[in-house]
Amino acid sequence: MIYIESIKFNKDQLYIIDQTLLPLEKKYISIDNIEIACEAIINLRIRGAPAIGVMAALSAYVEIQRLFRINRISNIADFKENLQIILNKLGKTRPTAVNLFYAIDRISREVLENHYLTVEEAINHLKKVAISIYEEDKELCNRIGENGAKLIFDGANILTHCNTGSLATAGRGTALGAIYTAVEKGIKIHVYNTETRPLLQGARLTSFELAYANIPNTLITDNMVASLFANKKIDMVMVGADRIAKNGDTANKIGTYSIAILANYFNIPFYVLAPYTTIDKSIKTGSEIVIEQRKKEEVLRFLNCKSAPENIDVYNPAFDVTPSHLITAIITEEGIFRYPYNFE
Ligand code: MRU
Repeated sequence: MIYIESIKFNKDQLYIIDQTLLPLEKKYISIDNIEIACEAIINLRIRGAPAIGVMAALSAYVEIQRLFRINRISNIADFKENLQIILNKLGKTRPTAVNLFYAIDRISREVLENHYLTVEEAINHLKKVAISIYEEDKELCNRIGENGAKLIFDGANILTHCNTGSLATAGRGTALGAIYTAVEKGIKIHVYNTETRPLLQGARLTSFELAYANIPNTLITDNMVASLFANKKIDMVMVGADRIAKNGDTANKIGTYSIAILANYFNIPFYVLAPYTTIDKSIKTGSEIVIEQRKKEEVLRFLNCKSAPENIDVYNPAFDVTPSHLITAIITEEGIFRYPYNFE
């Protein structure tokens, strides 16, 4: 299957597809300094937990290369000082998706804490670590896809939320990755996907990806889930995750929690698919997850069109936390884990 690549890295040039323009325009933009990288993450030109982490790692390397070219780095101390500044900037972009912090921590441990003899050696090592994060994510997606596909049977109707495909990762995706893998195995399925207000990742991105892959799908608005469960035969829900606590509580795109409650009411299996690195072993429960609050304009407008009076209060959390007892299984590259969860 051919996927749309969210990130392209070739000959030290980093490009991302600008997801704010999809599905109307398919345009790759160049990420050639850290300010452009941070702006792209904050404004969701690149989004999806794994893709954010991968892009952050590669953009740290691109920025270091740029500083080296313009003679702002001439020794190891300069290299480390600048890399620390870059990692701090990246760490302030989006708070909830753990993969960003996984990439930052990994670069800190493997590069900042390492000893080098020359700047060139340090830069080459940073490149190697960033590329490993990129390549590993593709491999993780393949393995999650294999494990997730084991749950999908011929004729299954699957509901998904937000976007968890190749646009959200460096590879084929997590929940959508399992769907792609199942289709490749010849399993016939039908996907229902939510629109995912306020920024429409479902309508704009998942519908686009599914059409591109020629997978039968039906778009619904977010408030149609109960009706869908009551009136159509939905066999399972498959979603991604931005951060999972040790007890399995899962932060994912706003609206995931309501779908989980409804799935529980209608007795429909609710699956979360994510790389093992999405499990944050430093937190016991979901109450410790920081939820990103976003601009009110995102709710006051439908795309670029005003859809509410300007001066009203708005509540706009980007994610919610689904308690683990509502999650039938968490699927990672390591396997299929069932409730109760105790990730150590
Ligand atoms: O705000 P976004 O678009 O970055 O949110 C993305 C999600 O919540 C996805 O469902 C999650 O990151 C899993 S992506 C494989």
